[in-house]
Amino acid sequence: MNSDVIIACDFPDRETTLAFLDRFAGSRKPFVKIGMELFYGAGPDIVREIKARGHRIFLDLKLHDIPNTVKKAMRVLSALDVDMVNVHASGAIPMMEAALEGLTRPDGTRPLLIAVTQLTSTSEEVLHRQLLVQASMNETIATYAANARKAGLDGVVCSPLESALVKEACGPDFLTVTPGIRFADAAADDQVRITTPARARELGSDFIVVGRPITAAADPVAAYQRCLEEFVH
Ligand code: C5P
Repeated sequence: MNSDVIIACDFPDRETTLAFLDRFAGSRKPFVKIGMELFYGAGPDIVREIKARGHRIFLDLKLHDIPNTVKKAMRVLSALDVDMVNVHASGAIPMMEAALEGLTRPDGTRPLLIAVTQLTSTSEEVLHRQLLVQASMNETIATYAANARKAGLDGVVCSPLESALVKEACGPDFLTVTPGIRFADAAADDQVRITTPARARELGSDFIVVGRPITAAADPVAAYQRCLEEFVH
């Protein structure tokens, strides 16, 4: 299913993560995102363990290296049977093509591969003054997304507010995976450009990545259900 709510499991260790997932026993198994902190802390076994519990997994490691290194690393990640992985689009088309090659299993199947265009923590000023990119942020995002499409990737991570820009540059089937989600009646935390699950759906997000609105909720299962009700098409 190419539309879903992905819970960002930003926990420091295996025990906390599994205790959180235990709450969903008996209900729909959520699609979960495992990031650098948990993967580097708990190792690849945490991926195998969560997979064995029946969850789909987005392994958010944002690879960025020379093509050969990325290809070989992707081969290892693909063998972990994850469902979605990502790279930085700034690694350019040859690196993204190599990532895709490494991910493709002997039987032709592979996880979804998406690209980070520009980190949302990068401001327009940093883009120009530190990274020396003279194009605008939107032009950079649209071009990086188009490069990802040319390399054969499935989509990009972006703000829900950028989904239309990406779909315009890459077509309606190119996936947008969007964090920065908050319920209408909740705190923004450290996120700046936020939208509700319902608004993200209207703006064309294919997957929303939701962390604290679910993980820090008094009732995470109810918060997850609310996201599904608002978002899933
Ligand atoms: O708790 P919250 O809902 O803000 O979590 C959002 C998740 O999405 C975190 O894992 C965060 O690192 C990730 N993310 C993000 N913005 C990006 C890329 C990833 O918030 N541009």
